[in-house]
Amino acid sequence: MLTREENETLTRVGRGTPAGELLRRYWHPVAAAGELTDEKAIRAVKILGEELVVYRDKKGRYGLVGERCPHRSASLAFGRVDDEGIRCPYHGWKYDARGKCLEQPAEPPERAYKDKIQHTAYPVEKLGGLLFAYLGPEPAPLLPRWDVLAWENGKRWIEKHEIYRCNWLQPMENSVDPSHLYWLHGDTAHLVGAVERYEEEHEFLPFEFGIMKRRTTPGKKPGDSAQIDQHPLVFPNTLRHVFRTIKTDGLLRHNLQIRAPVDDTHTQIYVVYFTPTETDFSPADGEAPWEYFPIRDEKGEYRLEHVLVQDAMAWETQGGITDRTQEHLGVGDEGIISFRKLLHEQISIVRNGGEPLGIIRDPNKNRIIEFDVINERIGLYGSERQKVA
Ligand code: FES
Ligand SMILES: [Fe+2]
Repeated sequence: MLTREENETLTRVGRGTPAGELLRRYWHPVAAAGELTDEKAIRAVKILGEELVVYRDKKGRYGLVGERCPHRSASLAFGRVDDEGIRCPYHGWKYDARGKCLEQPAEPPERAYKDKIQHTAYPVEKLGGLLFAYLGPEPAPLLPRWDVLAWENGKRWIEKHEIYRCNWLQPMENSVDPSHLYWLHGDTAHLVGAVERYEEEHEFLPFEFGIMKRRTTPGKKPGDSAQIDQHPLVFPNTLRHVFRTIKTDGLLRHNLQIRAPVDDTHTQIYVVYFTPTETDFSPADGEAPWEYFPIRDEKGEYRLEHVLVQDAMAWETQGGITDRTQEHLGVGDEGIISFRKLLHEQISIVRNGGEPLGIIRDPNKNRIIEFDVINERIGLYGSERQKVA
């Protein structure tokens, strides 16, 4: 159980809030690169409570600037792009990707009024088919080249989920909550009975980029060896996971589930999938096919036949920001307690002017970051993670 104050500290994402400042030390996706096309080169996005627009100019360069025009606040989402930047639809003021005002058609040039205008602007980078933004203090750290984003020999695609009506911490706590598996997903995943659950061992091991969640399931019969599965929670807001499709092609689906905080009570989830194959090539700096993934059907009901929607239902029904003054944690919630502890520690590191967990500044360490993902149940062992299925 947390106090009201602790709950606020860990969850709020706005500028100047403790978690908001921590989250601003990391890159966050703001769109799938494929969402910006010649026909629709500008999109309104909200990230960490900030209303922005992401755009691609006529030269193919990306920009992320405040949505409201500094002149008289019209939305730049309805503006147009050219070779240099983005122009407001109302009176034509134009900005470049650094927020510099380039033109003010109704102002006499000799006044140089445009030089006094600085619009909000943040750096954008493309990787693994996503556009990532950095909203924190300069100098920006490197955008981490996680394996699923940077591998090239195989197929990559993106699912952009319907925006979830809950705070970002609810999905993250779920990432270190192994005991929900048999109950929330038990029917879909055809899992063994609940009794075996009690024989599992769970460990939450701190590592360079977050918490490694390891589950050891004892053999079913005497003499059978135990099976391990291991998935990292990548601090602060990502889960690295893998499964093998049973019903379709039987191939591995490595995936990265990124939970981008939209505001205090909404979260935008992107799931990036990668299947290693011998015949496909997916450039890390290219676009990737993407699709929209609704969690509700046309009647507004949760599509509960999908595993990820079962999770979404649990997180949304916990409340916009779940009231942690009312919870009753048990020994099965050990992972949640360790994640909150880590979050507290990292918040105070940032408050004291330090660099939080997992920030990368050395390009040599960032060629490609491969995680030690294991899922022996589906026949994936640590050393084989890149092997073609
Ligand atoms: S409101 Fe944007 S140019 Fe006037
Ligand atoms: Fe789940």
